[in-house]
Amino acid sequence: MEKLDQYAVFGNPIKHSKSPWIHAAFAEQTAQQMHYRSHKVELGRFAEAARQFFDNGGAGLNITVPFKLDAFEFADVLSDRARLAGAVNTLARAEDGSIYGDNTDGVGMVRDIHDNLGWTFPGKRILVLGAGGAVRGILGPLLKQQPASIVVANRTVEKAQALVEIFSARGEISACAFEHLAGQQFDLIINGTSASLSGDLPPLPRQIMSAEACCYDMMYGADPTPFMRWAASEMAWAVSDGLGMLVEQAAESFCIWRGIRPETKPVIEQLRHSL
Ligand code: ATR
Repeated sequence: MEKLDQYAVFGNPIKHSKSPWIHAAFAEQTAQQMHYRSHKVELGRFAEAARQFFDNGGAGLNITVPFKLDAFEFADVLSDRARLAGAVNTLARAEDGSIYGDNTDGVGMVRDIHDNLGWTFPGKRILVLGAGGAVRGILGPLLKQQPASIVVANRTVEKAQALVEIFSARGEISACAFEHLAGQQFDLIINGTSASLSGDLPPLPRQIMSAEACCYDMMYGADPTPFMRWAASEMAWAVSDGLGMLVEQAAESFCIWRGIRPETKPVIEQLRHSL
């Protein structure tokens, strides 16, 4: 029997990862002969585990928390967007054995917002909440969509300023403290903080939304996040969680590995029902 091409997601923790289910759905839909599993890697052991995986003939990896920086260092060749993101979530073995590193998180979010939700970017005033790794991953692809401006607001404003310096040559982008947002208005607000994990919400002033403002949380769950509840209470025109982003970034990885773009809508719907 022919051996299936091997893929995996490396992380820690990894138990609740939905990636094996998503990639199994893509493989079935596109009739690809592949196997995808999840693997918990001990902290400090990423390079060793990845080397072993590829030496054993593995074809590609997804990388999740906390190893995206290790994967960035592990890759032999980096895509421009991975270099800009400073992190890698997808590794692929090339024909010559070298390891290619990419980052599909930002483009996954842009696709979800544009293709699935039908929201638009050109000319929009965007507010991004947070300045950690997750936000760094989305700023490059967001700036490519030609918004009027992006404001990055963070509890530790110095971190927002450091991010803005990295991206300032690519478009209109500035940093701001939460309390200084008062009096400004935004058309799209994206929550990239991990505040929801502890049931928190960044301290946002009231009335920072324009008449048809859309609010997007990069997190998801069975229930609306605190940010989504805040957005609804402030009369946002539309609100979404980041479940579609999860599926879209996976589809982009799948496409890098297999050269085929799977249909994401049925997979997002099924995943939504399983939450
Ligand atoms: P990730 O990889 O998910 O981006 P991270 O790099 O640890 O994780 O970044 C977490 C982000 O959430 C940061 O912007 C953090 O703000 P600080 O830089 O000030 O720490 C933000 N964050 C976490 N908990 C928060 C809270 N309760 N209120 C506001 N911001 C919060």
